[in-house]
Amino acid sequence: MSEKRNLSIDGPRLWDSLMEMAKIGATKKGGCCRLALTDLDRQSRDLFSKWCEAAGCTLKVDKMGNIFARRAGRNDDLAPVITGSHLDTQPTGGRFDGVFGVLAGLEAVRTLNDLGYETERPIEVAVWTNEEGSRFAPAMVASGVFGGVFSLDYGLNRADEDGKTMGEELQRIGYAGPEEVGGRDVHAYFEAHIEQGPILEAEDKTIGIVTDAQGQRWYELTLTGVESHAGPTPMNRRKDALLGAARVVDLVNKVGLDNAPSGCATVGMMKVHPNSRNVIPGQVFLTIDFRHPDDAVLAGMDKAMRAGVEQIAKKIGLQVEMEQIFYYAPIHFDESCVSAVREAAKDCGYSMREIVSGAGHDACYVANVAPTSMIFVPCIDGISHNEIEDAKPEWITAGGNVLLRALLEKAGHVA
Ligand code: GLV
Ligand code: MN
Ligand code: MN
Repeated sequence: MSEKRNLSIDGPRLWDSLMEMAKIGATKKGGCCRLALTDLDRQSRDLFSKWCEAAGCTLKVDKMGNIFARRAGRNDDLAPVITGSHLDTQPTGGRFDGVFGVLAGLEAVRTLNDLGYETERPIEVAVWTNEEGSRFAPAMVASGVFGGVFSLDYGLNRADEDGKTMGEELQRIGYAGPEEVGGRDVHAYFEAHIEQGPILEAEDKTIGIVTDAQGQRWYELTLTGVESHAGPTPMNRRKDALLGAARVVDLVNKVGLDNAPSGCATVGMMKVHPNSRNVIPGQVFLTIDFRHPDDAVLAGMDKAMRAGVEQIAKKIGLQVEMEQIFYYAPIHFDESCVSAVREAAKDCGYSMREIVSGAGHDACYVANVAPTSMIFVPCIDGISHNEIEDAKPEWITAGGNVLLRALLEKAGHVA
């Protein structure tokens, strides 16, 4: 125990690596724009791979472009303990979302090397492809294939706005690997991440023991009315698709408020056609994102939204096409992994609380095939998916220390 108490990652080294990685796709406001499978994503993968090779890891890439950097175990035939997250970002992303979990894993490996620690089981640091779901919807596609939720075909055929598929873009950037996706035993999976919300900071807690993640439903809607001239068309003869969309935004917000504080509801994307100032909009495409930790409530939000959209469309005379393109039920993480995180935080003497993840994470899909849990650290003002996303170095170090201990607990430290 006393030996464990002194066990610490090199916090400044982890911070420096985060700042080095943040230079790839750095934005003027201090954030990152590194969309999945762009040249910048390739650069971040190359840098990660270089660092892992320097740390003595062997690298494997699977057919979805997921990277696994492996530190051998004493009994290398045993199922590995995996940790990781993602290197892709939102268009106006920050320096920590995803990257922290990846580089905290690498820092754990570097620390084990420095200390000359062997583990019974191998440890792998994973980079999951396209977690954000921003360039290619939906989110967490590649960990979803790993977790058996999506087929490989479905994953490789997700297309961006220009019609380029993930499969083509993986080939182009050189990360269409030869390994099968998933289908192997994983002893445990841990993912360290910033909270992306305000709870830990507000309560002055350093570590979030993530017990659950809320469920999600994503929809795509196309509202079709009639384009017509903005001048001669009287108000009572319009079929204005943007007016319908505005009412849908209000409806979605109301559904969120009706299910607050746990429920969240967002329209994040809209495309107006023909988008000309003197044409009444004939068509609008928009997206809806619903979240709730209770699956039955999430289903109720779905029902309320569908009924409301129908009424809105009827009133204005619009046609509606709606597809739910993404759904997963709330996740309850594995008790023994949650307990490994709790004990690790206790051992370090950090303040902590249990927490439900508001965001989706690769861990949510890996949890289908492996005992899984997550470690949260606070972020400044709870802000994420924003270029100003920030964290204190001591929080980052604390998250790394907890991850290291949880990994050792599950991988079995050999004295
Ligand atoms: C992923 O970042 C999500 O929660 O949408
Ligand atoms: Mn993330
Ligand atoms: Mn994100």
